[in-house]
Order: sequence, then structure tokens, then C-alpha cells
Amino acid sequence: MEYNMMIKWHEAAKKRASVRQYDGKVSKELFYNLKDFAATLNNGDARIEFKSKSGVLGRSRLLSFLGGVEGTNCFAAVIVRDDNKFMGGYIGEAFVLECVSRGLGTCWLGGTYKKRSLKNAFSLDEDESLLCVIAVGKAAEQPTPAEKKSVQKLTGLSESEFRMLPAWQHEAVNSARLAPSALNKQPWELEIERDYIRIINTKRNFGFGDVDCGIAMLHIELGAASCGVYGDWFFDGEDGEARFVPFADSFEGISDSEEFDD
Ligand SMILES: Cc1cc2nc3c(=O)[nH]c(=O)nc-3n(C[C@H](O)[C@H](O)[C@H](O)COP(=O)(O)O)c2cc1C
Repeated sequence: MEYNMMIKWHEAAKKRASVRQYDGKVSKELFYNLKDFAATLNNGDARIEFKSKSGVLGRSRLLSFLGGVEGTNCFAAVIVRDDNKFMGGYIGEAFVLECVSRGLGTCWLGGTYKKRSLKNAFSLDEDESLLCVIAVGKAAEQPTPAEKKSVQKLTGLSESEFRMLPAWQHEAVNSARLAPSALNKQPWELEIERDYIRIINTKRNFGFGDVDCGIAMLHIELGAASCGVYGDWFFDGEDGEARFVPFADSFEGISDSEEFDD
């Protein structure tokens, strides 16, 4: 990911909130622009199909407490290979943040859309499945930010311990804390060590726990990048949990010349 894009998404992550009421159409130009952008996120483990189709999104008047959206036909279908929910969450959230930075509203939908109406909208390989859809459109109203768990609950650190963390970890945690999750459950905890952050899934969350972790993983990376720290993910925990480890030359004090001067 390039630097400018990460900074733009980090800013979008700070102002994003799920939008459930939409108004007006996304322009044709923006629609095809986003379709092209979606194609750049596709990889061997997950891909996104950006579509406009009526009858897929909607809200039941009787069961409105279940959520759902109204006023747009545009959505991104998040498709994963071999059930790779982490990657689906990760690239789906990249798509969300790109939409937000272009002034659009979004809402992840795992349950409240009409799956059957998507039957012929795209074809799936044998090892692929539809993970979620993401509603996209012009927000009809300013969404209210959802309340999030405290940093202390998510990290196990006291306020003073959190204050002592280096800026990249501070920002990574703050950014992860704002990530969307199914039913706003935030079903993960962060283990913070000097040179890494590990994310641990704490609940299945109706089958969306790993998607929620994948979303939070992107937020962690963006928070770190906003402080000039870049790194990679390693799935090396006892139960395969993911760990974000900065590249050695990300840290202040280690210059390129020191790295390569022998
Ligand atoms: C994987 C996933 C599935 C979701 N499914 C639904 C859904 O079916 N219906 C809905 O209205 N909202 C759904 N949401 C949106 C969440 O309810 C929302 O992200 C959460 O309440 C936090 O609010 P925020 O996004 O404004 O921070 C889903 C979110 C995620 C990440």
C-alpha cells in the first residue's frame, strides 16, 4: 500500500460510522471509478465485486431492530476463497475507507440483505463463498458514532501504561478501537509487546469474529503507518493468531545507512 493512500484511509477511519439511510444516486463516473478501484484490491484469497442492483438491500419494517439499509442499490460483495475471513475483512475495510474518503457512506452487512437476489449477480468458483456485502451510497444523514470498548478493555493496559506506549502503538490501538464489527461486539483483544501487536479473537460473533479481526488488522496497520511505522502480519500465535511486526528500518534511530553499511 502506498503512503498517501494509508494516510487518507487513516483519516477516513477516524470519521467513519455505519450509514443505514441513503439518498440520491452515486454518479456513473464515481461508480465505475470505484469498480476499477475494487479490482486493485483483489488477490488470491479474497475479492470484491462492486455492483448496482435493486432488491438486494433493504430493511424490514417489522424487524427494523435487526438493522439493514435503505435508499441505495450500490453494494460491494466481499467474496473469499477457502473461507479466508481475515482477508475478506481486510480488503472489504480497505474498500469501505476508500468510499468514505471519496465522501460516500457505507455499512457492512452480514445478515440484513437478500442473499437469494444475488444468485445470478456474479459467479463463484467452487472454493469461493460470499462473506458479506457492503452497502455504499450518499448518506442521507450524519451517522451517529457507535460507542466503543475502552482501550483498557481491549488491551488490558492501565491508562498510564497506555500513555507510555510509543506513538505507533498508541495510534494503532486508537485506530483499531474505531473499527466496525458485527453487532459492534469488537470481539478481539490486543497483546502489546515492545516490537509487535498481536490480535486475539475472543468470540465467534455469529461467525463474523474473524472478519471483525481482519477489519481491525487494517486499522492497526493504518494507525502505525500514520506514525511512519510499516510492517507485516505473521499468523504465528499458539492458535494461529496474527501479529503485526514493524520492519526494522521503520523505527526511529535506525537509518538506511546503518542498515546497509557493512
Ligand atoms: C462483519 C460485519 C457484519 C455486519 N452486519 C450488519 C448487518 O447485517 N446489518 C446491519 O445493519 N449492520 C451490520 N453491521 C454493522 C455493525 O452493526 C456496525 O459496524 C457496528 O454497530 C458498529 O458501528 P459503526 O460501524 O458505526 O462503528 C456489520 C458489521 C460488520 C463488521
